Amino acid sequence: MSTAEVAANCLRRLEERDFRILYALEGALNSIQQAKVEYLEKSTRLHRDEVIFRLERLQKNKMISKGESGYYLVSTGLDAIALKAFVKRGLISVFGGNVGVGKEADIFDVADDRGNSYVIKFYRLGRTSFREVKKKRQIIPAEESANWLKACVNAATKEMWAMRKVRAVGGVVPEAIARERHAILMQKIDGVLLNKVMVLDNPKLALKSILDTIKLAYVKAGIVNGDLSEYNILHDGERFYVIDWPQSVLVSSPDSGRLLIRDLRNVLRFFSKRFNVYYTFEKAYDYVTRLDSEF
Ligand SMILES: Nc1ncnc2c1ncn2[C@@H]1O[C@H](COP(=O)(O)OP(=O)(O)OP(=O)(O)O)[C@@H](O)[C@H]1O
Ligand SMILES: [Mg+2]
Repeated sequence: MSTAEVAANCLRRLEERDFRILYALEGALNSIQQAKVEYLEKSTRLHRDEVIFRLERLQKNKMISKGESGYYLVSTGLDAIALKAFVKRGLISVFGGNVGVGKEADIFDVADDRGNSYVIKFYRLGRTSFREVKKKRQIIPAEESANWLKACVNAATKEMWAMRKVRAVGGVVPEAIARERHAILMQKIDGVLLNKVMVLDNPKLALKSILDTIKLAYVKAGIVNGDLSEYNILHDGERFYVIDWPQSVLVSSPDSGRLLIRDLRNVLRFFSKRFNVYYTFEKAYDYVTRLDSEF
């Protein structure tokens, strides 16, 4: 079970006062990192016995860990804080199962109380290398945990910003509805990854529509995705959604040229292999980098 599933299962059992402790530990991420009982007594204004009781509960539910000099928030705790915030804002009321487990994120099905479906993307930046640390040392030290959680929040902030910017200029990107901490609530695309698509009615037109999103992102939003391939494009039978923008870069950054070339080569290679659509790199590059050039 992923940490978000653990958090979702616990959400109903957690009380307001448990959350007071979690919020205090969240605040400590930026300062002391490990909080002692006395600190939590003050910041939550709960009685010492109650703080101790709730710390034990939260630790048993894997929301927090205990280090040498105090307690600290871990991934499941931040997942619970984010979920609770989405619920409080009236954005979601039902938590479904796992949709996808990527290298850097867990994607979950959710719905609001009118029955509209969405997904939540929880960031787990550099999860694989982080797991190695965990394996070796059993538990993750407070400072690393805090830095990691903060990096995940930054990645979510960055992806939401990029998604909105690209969508605003007409790129085909899922709508980012809201962010809480390291989680983005977004439009659910009922479709499949392009790498699973074996036939298309008009593959050349499909290539054009993907290049259109790259072009609008580049020319109008000043953004390069940087991780584009058939594994980061979702097809719903009609449109081609470019997903996964946390590593995107500004056109003005020194890496943007290299990344744009790689993105284009990945997409062109896939279309030539799978659909026998041969479109030269030079033409594609010219098309996406100049607003007035034609496909
Ligand atoms: N808006 C969405 N609607 C439906 N499914 C989605 C949506 N966004 C992501 N997914 C699914 O979740 C998977 C992982 O998403 P995403 O690529 O954004 O995360 P990731 O962890 O960075 O992936 P990776 O590092 O493996 O490329 C996708 O491959 C896709 O199957
Ligand atoms: Mg991906």
